[in-house]
Amino acid sequence: MDHFLYRSGTLHAEDVPIPEIAAVVGTPFYVYSTATLERHYRLFTEALDPLPHLVCFAVKSNSNVAVLKVLGDLGAGMDVVSGGEYLRAKAAGVPGDRIVFSGVGKTREEMRLALEGGIRQFNVESEPELLALSEVAAGMGLRAPIALRVNPDVDARTHEKIATGKSENKFGIPIARAREVYALAAGLPGIEVCAVDVHIGSQLTDLEPFEQAYLKVADLTRALRADGHTIRRLDLGGGLGIPYTRSNEAPPLPAEYGALIKRTVGDLGCEIEIEPGRLISGNAGLLVSGVIYVKAGEGRDFLIVDAAMNDLVRPSMYGAHHDIVPVVEPAAGALAQPFDVVGPVCETGDTFAKARHLPALAAGDLVAFRSAGAYGAVMASEYNTRPLVPEVLVRGDHFAVIRARPTFDEILNRDTIPEWL
Ligand code: LLP
Repeated sequence: MDHFLYRSGTLHAEDVPIPEIAAVVGTPFYVYSTATLERHYRLFTEALDPLPHLVCFAVKSNSNVAVLKVLGDLGAGMDVVSGGEYLRAKAAGVPGDRIVFSGVGKTREEMRLALEGGIRQFNVESEPELLALSEVAAGMGLRAPIALRVNPDVDARTHEKIATGKSENKFGIPIARAREVYALAAGLPGIEVCAVDVHIGSQLTDLEPFEQAYLKVADLTRALRADGHTIRRLDLGGGLGIPYTRSNEAPPLPAEYGALIKRTVGDLGCEIEIEPGRLISGNAGLLVSGVIYVKAGEGRDFLIVDAAMNDLVRPSMYGAHHDIVPVVEPAAGALAQPFDVVGPVCETGDTFAKARHLPALAAGDLVAFRSAGAYGAVMASEYNTRPLVPEVLVRGDHFAVIRARPTFDEILNRDTIPEWL
């Protein structure tokens, strides 16, 4: 459920008509609903109650500091994968003891930054990383709290570019070797073992792969305890999928996911961490775009909109589907016709949808791409020197620009011409 509904024939974000925002901000822009973000976060915490837990929002899915503050103010933790994301979480007021640091390639500088600012745990993905972290922490007179991210070798049954839990993927330590690496970790001066971490992929629409992975983590936890390690927490990753179309798919609900967690690892007495991104932010955001031209082609008509692949890359990168809806609701019984919805970028890949049925639209009309709150703005670029797409946050009947569209002066001033040219 989200808070983007038609009222009196116009699409609203909570209580704000979308055209009102477009008039102030211009198109294209992203708009997020505070109520939807809050609701989705609460679904997870309720699903995990009464187990002790921390829901760590995957910052990579939507890293705007205002969005992070909405969640942080509710008590959310943050899952970060870079020094930059760590600084964003801190800027949103999230204390270090609610931040977990994931990722295969943490640099020593990033480790130092997090150790200085405070960190709940590093999710370590390899032996070289473990050795580097121990050295950095010991050099600062500290012990870094860690989980080892284990690779359980399960098939997440999702898009191959976002599956991470098979042995051929670059992520984690093969679960068969985990005990050996935990033994190494326990002997290092700068390391404090406290948890086990697993994350098998994103946009999972089936609970079965989670079940397989979590049962393996439960077995490993028992074995590690028998080996003498203190395992206080389990980080079970993110990945629960969302419905991208109104009709067919209905991925499992957070409540069902919570029940699975309780069934598989609930008896271990561990604090549970999860790292959902998409399910919290995905359906909390729209990308709003204006129609530039309607172009009659051979055998098809093109809707040329002012958003492009640089603003929302998921369709061209993963062949992902985003529902596209007119901001002004078509009259009942209005005929829909197929359009190829494309952006202005000079690549055939700049196509959002093919033969998508939409009502008659004209230049100047607004359309909204649904489910764009996750992996939308964060993956945007300025390809074709198109200014980075702005972001807007709505709460009730008011809205604020939470990232402004850069001016062309700002963009051009980032480049410098060397004096010898
Ligand atoms: N934790 C870790 C360690 C991750 O790598 C990810 C996502 C998450 C949590 C959050 O997963 P979520 O709950 O959002 O599924 N750009 C792609 C998605 C990449 C996901 C990468 N890792 C897309 O647009 O579909």
